[in-house]
Amino acid sequence: MAAIVSHMTLEQKIGQMTQPDIRWATPDDVRRYYIGSVLNGGGAWPDMHKHAPPAEWAALSSAYYQASMSTGMAYPVPIIWGVDAVHGHNNVYGATLFPHNIGLGAAHDPELVYRIGRSTARAVRATGITWAFAPTLAVVQDQRWGRTYESFSSDPALVRRYAESYVRGLQGDLNGAGDVLATAKHFLGDGGTFHGVDQGDTRVPLDQLIGVHAQGYYGALDAGVQTVMVSYSSWNESGEGDRGTRMHANRYLITEVLKQRLGFDGIVISDWNAIEQVPGCTRTHCPEAINAGIDIVMAPEDWRGFIRETIEDVRRGDIPMSRIDDAVSRIVRVKLRSGLFDADPGAVARQFGADAIADRALAREAVRRSLVLLKNNDGVLPLAAGSRVLVVGRGADNLSLQSGGWSRTWQGDENVNADFGVGESLLTAIRHTVGEANAVYSETGADVDVRGFDAVIAVLAETPYAEMRGDVAYPAPMAHSARYPQDLAVLDAVAGRGVPVVTILYSGRTVYANDLINRSDAFVAAWLPGSEAGGIADLLFRATGGAAPYDFTGRLPFAWPRTQCDSVGRGVRFPVGYGLSYARAQRVSQLAEDTRADCAH
Ligand code: BGC
Ligand code: BGC
Repeated sequence: MAAIVSHMTLEQKIGQMTQPDIRWATPDDVRRYYIGSVLNGGGAWPDMHKHAPPAEWAALSSAYYQASMSTGMAYPVPIIWGVDAVHGHNNVYGATLFPHNIGLGAAHDPELVYRIGRSTARAVRATGITWAFAPTLAVVQDQRWGRTYESFSSDPALVRRYAESYVRGLQGDLNGAGDVLATAKHFLGDGGTFHGVDQGDTRVPLDQLIGVHAQGYYGALDAGVQTVMVSYSSWNESGEGDRGTRMHANRYLITEVLKQRLGFDGIVISDWNAIEQVPGCTRTHCPEAINAGIDIVMAPEDWRGFIRETIEDVRRGDIPMSRIDDAVSRIVRVKLRSGLFDADPGAVARQFGADAIADRALAREAVRRSLVLLKNNDGVLPLAAGSRVLVVGRGADNLSLQSGGWSRTWQGDENVNADFGVGESLLTAIRHTVGEANAVYSETGADVDVRGFDAVIAVLAETPYAEMRGDVAYPAPMAHSARYPQDLAVLDAVAGRGVPVVTILYSGRTVYANDLINRSDAFVAAWLPGSEAGGIADLLFRATGGAAPYDFTGRLPFAWPRTQCDSVGRGVRFPVGYGLSYARAQRVSQLAEDTRADCAH
């Protein structure tokens, strides 16, 4: 490693520290600028071909790899390609989408998470990619945050156990054909921002930062995680507009704590253009971030400017050469450890069958394990085999609403069912279970005579969102029906007509829903289950002539709010750990409804 680094020119070293997006850097750029890594951001595909098959991904990977090995460097250093594989290999057409992390948290099963890590790693390798920007280890405190669903739980102990098993699953022993590098993100305190503001300020003392928000990192480091991504957020930002404690400039936490005290010897990577948020920095110039300990800078579009200005910083002495050498040594070390020098990952990918990106049975099992039964009055569930059901709600036949953000695209809100190439909607799964003729679908439930059915299954949903767009800004109420009045209208169209109503809610967070729960005989929190809704149908119906083949085992990973203003786990309707089952019945009586217009008063 030392030999490799000592033979590198300054240009070559800075190239290693620079990460463009595949939309803005060609293999030829990689060769000319000694680029050390690329990423495809959410919704970036080879040649912007949304339905590109694994072979097309692998071919692009080979092209980057060959370019990186023909730069003319004394010792060529292979490129790494990173991807947000955060619930399966979610950008890739045909790849199974597992439940988002919040649903895995409900399953309370580290072994399941390990298997999902293994499966995801295999899918990623089958496209020639060797680095997953996962898992997110945020311990979310305020569910106004639009990234709540990327968090396993508000319970630091669960996040810690999951971090360890997820990283072990993704990384294997680092050298296998089905292993990828994992990323613990976002360091540190991303889940603790004031009012749940995305990229906001985490105002907590050091002991809470460690006792709550850092717990996942202990698990990830125990499992040997090789990369850590820094958070956009700040820690105890002082006055108005002062971003002096932006995590990207926090030398204390990145270098003194993570690298020195905790002994992390892998790569610290920045988040997407995050350096520009450090005071005095731009997206192409930020010696503060590198001096704080960041080794790779994600500079998706403006990577040329970043390389040019960083070289000047080093020449001027604004970044010491020792810091650059430390960064590059870490990058080369991780590349050596992961076997990248030995084989072109694009070529390795061709050993996998095209179906390596699909793992439907595991995803279906994960869905079954993730569902939380909040209410089941009079034992409405499980429904009899062959029941005649009316299915209503916009979530029923919609893989996009089922999957949420980071699904094929970044926000996940611009897909039709044909963009998934795998999986089934809940409506399809119900039809498979009860027979085509026994399931009638009406999106609104209006103009249908409910009395002709044994039960109504209503599938309600949040509209997909990802970072930046998913926050429910304080003081807006956190009521599902305030944001999606059409969902309340659906229940009004079918409830109270003498036919039991079973509601399934797709959401990235726990939300105030007393009005919806009151209008339902049974209510299931299904989170964002992903592509395999068959796992939901598995739990709703009895087998022919018998009992239900499965029971509910999911338990709440976050508190369920009592009022529309309880987003931080204080006013609690159903506590963390709550979850009914067929074996453990319990009546939920009428809930008080809260109709405040805002939460400031
Ligand atoms: C997100 C990260 C993600 C990165 C690359 C950022 O905006 O915060 O979680 O890994 O983009 O897509
Ligand atoms: C990318 C995402 C990224 C985001 C950040 C998008 O264009 O595709 O991956 O996280 O920008 O702003």
